[in-house]
Amino acid sequence: MKKNSMIITPKPNDPEVQILAKELEKKGISVEYFVPAETIVDIDTFWERFDHLDPRGALVRGFGAAATQKIFFRLDVLSAIEEFGITLINSRESLEIASDKFLTSIFLKNHKIPTPRTIICEDAVKALDNFDILGGDVILKPLYGSKGIGITRLNDKAFAENVIYTLGELNEIFYLQEFVNHYNRDIRVLVLGDEAVAGMYRIADNWKTNIYAGAKMEKIKLTKELKRLAVKAAQVVKTEIAGVDIIESEKGLQVIEVNSIPGFTALQKVVNTNLAEKIIDFFLKKISK
Ligand SMILES: Nc1ncnc2c1ncn2[C@@H]1O[C@H](COP(=O)(O)OP(=O)(O)O)[C@@H](O)[C@H]1O
Ligand SMILES: [Mg+2]
Repeated sequence: MKKNSMIITPKPNDPEVQILAKELEKKGISVEYFVPAETIVDIDTFWERFDHLDPRGALVRGFGAAATQKIFFRLDVLSAIEEFGITLINSRESLEIASDKFLTSIFLKNHKIPTPRTIICEDAVKALDNFDILGGDVILKPLYGSKGIGITRLNDKAFAENVIYTLGELNEIFYLQEFVNHYNRDIRVLVLGDEAVAGMYRIADNWKTNIYAGAKMEKIKLTKELKRLAVKAAQVVKTEIAGVDIIESEKGLQVIEVNSIPGFTALQKVVNTNLAEKIIDFFLKKISK
């Protein structure tokens, strides 16, 4: 019987999704797509949508940006799919922790993984106090976000006041992190299970080193220390396919985040192994158990 697999994604046409689908198809596995924002759940029949999956797994490549309420619903849809016996890679639990910068910080800290000092609160007045507590030079990040979008550095009190009060009016939560000088460079490591598969430097002309923000990638030889740290960070946030961001600070290596839907296009440009194939091999190994 022909094998069927599923990719959960907000954008089936996304080039990386298409590359991953081709890798599955090369192995004789047909691929269908599930778009979380389009879900219509009839609780009598929803399970039927997943009944023919063989092996019993789905690859999660995102659930789309949305307001918090919708994010909760979409995570719940993932829980429902797991309830039907489908193994999600990454799991709902992973996506819940790794997509949320607050929870990620807590898990990293609680497992003694070096990460910059961070204070989170709802109240704008308290947020401004925390700006001072963190030394008056902070990075303000949206709780759910990626590619550096919406991340701002605040190092001027009057400007910080302005930004914080304005965001307070919009009911934002304040995730404030001490600014750590990394000389405009960080390291991205792709982790699959207990293996750090590949990595790159991302070098920018300013503090924001996301490729999306214009940083350039460069080859890196991953040291044992980097590999160990990346794998441990991925594991503590229960993420099997992970993109771990690490900065080299004066105090040593620090993990700033773990991505549970890591891109691989930029990384692929500086390594020889076929990353999409590696990801699919890992996914199939995990769900075929
Ligand atoms: N505490 C920090 N100090 C200095 N630079 C930071 C800090 N946190 C993040 N950055 C920079 O901003 C980039 C984006 O931050 P990150 O937490 O990875 O969010 P995103 O999910 O948007 O990628 C990082 O790659 C890094 O270059
Ligand atoms: Mg990042």
